[in-house]
Amino acid sequence: MRFKDKRVIITGAASGIGRATALLFAAEGARVVAADRDAAGLSQTAALATAPIDTVTFDITDVAACQSLVAGAAKDAGIDILCNIAGVLDWGVTADFDEARFARIVAVNLTGTYAMCRATLPYLVESGGNIVNIASTAGLQGVPYTVAYAASKHGVIGLTKSLAVEYASRGVRVNAVCPGHVDTPMTRNPPPTDDIDWSLMMRNAPKLADGICTPEDIAAMLAFLAADSGRKITGAIFTVDGGQLAG
Ligand SMILES: NC(=O)c1ccc[n+]([C@@H]2O[C@H](COP(=O)([O-])OP(=O)(O)OC[C@H]3O[C@@H](n4cnc5c(N)ncnc54)[C@H](O)[C@@H]3O)[C@@H](O)[C@H]2O)c1
Repeated sequence: MRFKDKRVIITGAASGIGRATALLFAAEGARVVAADRDAAGLSQTAALATAPIDTVTFDITDVAACQSLVAGAAKDAGIDILCNIAGVLDWGVTADFDEARFARIVAVNLTGTYAMCRATLPYLVESGGNIVNIASTAGLQGVPYTVAYAASKHGVIGLTKSLAVEYASRGVRVNAVCPGHVDTPMTRNPPPTDDIDWSLMMRNAPKLADGICTPEDIAAMLAFLAADSGRKITGAIFTVDGGQLAG
């Protein structure tokens, strides 16, 4: 029960890593507010949880909706932990990937993460709380045909480190997890098959024999960082990737 009575907001909680994180935190005593744009997926998450969780449907690209989500979650007992997990992936050869598609990825993955952090930080200063953002191994290396996604995740790492420095003296920790390949609906949407150089794509396959991660593998790292086990960790970027970036 690492999170007994902790008030936790988890975005992207209708699916994949966000759902696994919401289920883990709820099972360990947290008062979870699970948020996502997918209302049906949120209902499924709530049905799977072993303790009651609150659900909020919102769009992370709407700053007012982020602020309202946070204010609602904070109204009784403040906020202790924010897990920023909502994200989108879009593949394409760069010649055909226009600026509107690029902007959409950045709006969800980077600006949305920023809006959630900015709305929540005053409450975390009050509680001495912390943030865990989901970046990606695509935030640590270039990824072909995924320029917008990789740029957004590099941005999440810069945001994480910068907020960690700015808020450390006020007792707020900010960390990020970089998953490699995780088996979720996001990765069941494969890259386009035309005009792809697969030798570039396969450079960083997992090295462990069973190296593809489950959502629960990533949720476990989020929980480690958010709990008291992470109390001396801030501005840190943890890779969970089956050895993809090992060499
Ligand atoms: N699956 C992987 O291999 C992998 C690897 C590295 C990083 N990640 C990151 O992990 C996070 C979770 O991804 P996942 O694999 O669980 O994918 P997923 O598609 O299963 O879940 C993503 C969730 O984000 C929500 N979302 C998307 N846009 C939103 C918006 N505008 N407002 C609110 N919610 C929105 C979706 O509805 C969905 O429930 C993402 O940030 C992703 O970039 C995933």
